[in-house]
Amino acid sequence: IPVDEFDLVIFGATGDLAHRKILPGLFRRWLAGQIPEGARIIGAARTQQDAAAFRAEAIAAIKEYSGTPPDAASLDSFAAHLDYIAVDATGETGWDTLAKTMRPGVIRAFYFSVAPALFGAIAERLASHGIADADSRIVVEKPFGRDLESARALNGTLAQHFAEGQIYRIDHYLGKETVQNLMAVRFANMLFEPLWNAQNIDHVQITVAETVGVAGRGSYYDQSGAIRDMVQNHMMQLLCLIAMEPPWHFDPDAVRDEKLKVIRALAPIGPEDIVRGQYRGPAEDYRADAENPDSRTESFVALKVEIANWRWTGTPFYLRTGKRLRARTSEIAVIFKEPPHSIFDESDPPANALVIKLQPNEGMTLRVNIKEPGPGGMRLVQVPLDMSFAEALGPDGTDMPDAYERLIMDVIRGNQTLFMRGDEVEAAWAWTDPIIRAWDEAAASPEAYDPGSGGPEEASRLMHRDNRRWREIRA
Ligand code: BG6
Repeated sequence: IPVDEFDLVIFGATGDLAHRKILPGLFRRWLAGQIPEGARIIGAARTQQDAAAFRAEAIAAIKEYSGTPPDAASLDSFAAHLDYIAVDATGETGWDTLAKTMRPGVIRAFYFSVAPALFGAIAERLASHGIADADSRIVVEKPFGRDLESARALNGTLAQHFAEGQIYRIDHYLGKETVQNLMAVRFANMLFEPLWNAQNIDHVQITVAETVGVAGRGSYYDQSGAIRDMVQNHMMQLLCLIAMEPPWHFDPDAVRDEKLKVIRALAPIGPEDIVRGQYRGPAEDYRADAENPDSRTESFVALKVEIANWRWTGTPFYLRTGKRLRARTSEIAVIFKEPPHSIFDESDPPANALVIKLQPNEGMTLRVNIKEPGPGGMRLVQVPLDMSFAEALGPDGTDMPDAYERLIMDVIRGNQTLFMRGDEVEAAWAWTDPIIRAWDEAAASPEAYDPGSGGPEEASRLMHRDNRRWREIRA
C-alpha cells in the first residue's frame, strides 16, 4: 500500500548510513510500489554538488549495497525522486533554498543522519526558517547521548522545537522483522503467555554475537564499548520485548509504556554480575583496530540481569554480545524449568527450551522431549520442533525488508510504535550509567579473548556458579 505523498530531507545524505541503509532502503520500497509518484527525497549535506551528481552518487550506493543488482531503468526512475541542496548545518547556507523547496500540504520528514552534536543546530534552523510545520517529523539516530545527562540534554534540545510525537528515535533492532515477531509470538498465541513467568521459566539467554571487529570505526567504538553500543539500546529493547506485560493494544504509547516499566524494574548490577572482554590476537587485535594501545574498552560484555517485579523475580536474564566472535548469530533462548517430578525411571526429562533466532536464518525452535524409539524401555530424547521462516513462509519468509525500510515508512505513516520514546532512552541510561561508572572507577582491564572464539572464559563463570551454561555460539 503506498504511503501518502512526502518530502523527505536526509541531512548527512553523502554519509555512510545514507549510502548503506537509507537510500537502498528507500529504493526497495520504491520497487515494492510503496513510494508515491510525487514523493521527493532531498539530500542535504555540506558537499557542493547538484542534483544530478547526488543522483549518480545514490545510484552507485544502491548498486553497492543492495543485495541483488538492480536494473538500470528502475534505478533511473527511482533517482527521478531525488533532489539535492547543499546545506551547512551550523551556518546559514542552503536553509532558505530548503524552505522554498518544501511543498505545502505534503508530509515533511527530516532524517538527521549526522553526528549528534549537530542535532540541536539542525532542529533550530528547521524551526527558525519555518521549514518544519506542526506535523513534521524528525528522525534521529543512535548514539542518543552517551549517558543520562547527555541524553537528557539532547531530549531537551529537541523538545525546544519539536513535540515528542514528532521525534522518531531509531533503534534499528526494532525494525527487524524477527524482533517485531517477538510481540506476535507472545501476544497472538495462547500457547506461551500462560507459562511466561518465573514459575515456569528457569532463565533467559539473549545473545547478539558478531564476527566483525571495530576496524574502520575504532574512534567511535573506543569511546563507547559494547555496553553503550549494544546493551543500552539493542539488547535492552530485546529484553523489554521478551519481558514486558501485554500492552492493552498495539499502539505506540501502550507498547512503550510497557517497555519502560521493564527498564525501571531492572535491578542494579554489581561487579560480580558482569564480565567484559576484549579480543586480542596476533592477527586481529582490538587495540590495534581501535588504534589505542592502552584501550580498556570492552568489545564483549556478558551480564546477569534481574527484573524486580512479580512476573520475573527468580528468573535471571543473561545477556551477552561481542565482536569478533565465532559466528554472526542473534538469538533469544527461553529455558523452561524441569518438570517437577519424573515418572520415568530410566531418565529425567531435560528442560524445554524455546529458541527464537533473530538472525541469520530466522526461525523458532521448541525443544521437546519424546520417547527414544526402540524396544529398550522408556528412554527420553529431546528433539527440536523446528520452524524456519524461509521454509514456513516460502519466498516471503526469506525476502525480509531491512529494518530501515520498515522504519522509514513508519515515519511517513506517522507510527511511533517501533521508535524509542524520550523517557525510555533516559531510563535505559539511568540503568547503564552506574555500571559504566563502576567500571571506570575500578580501572580494571577487560578479559582477553581469542578472535573467533565464544568470548572470554570468565563469561562462563556467570553461568556456572548458577549451575547453568551458555548455549553454544554457532551460525
Ligand atoms: C549498531 C552498532 O548499532 O548495530 C554496531 O553500532 C553493530 O556496532 C550493529 O555492529 C549490529 O547491527 P546488526 O543489524 O548487524 O545486528
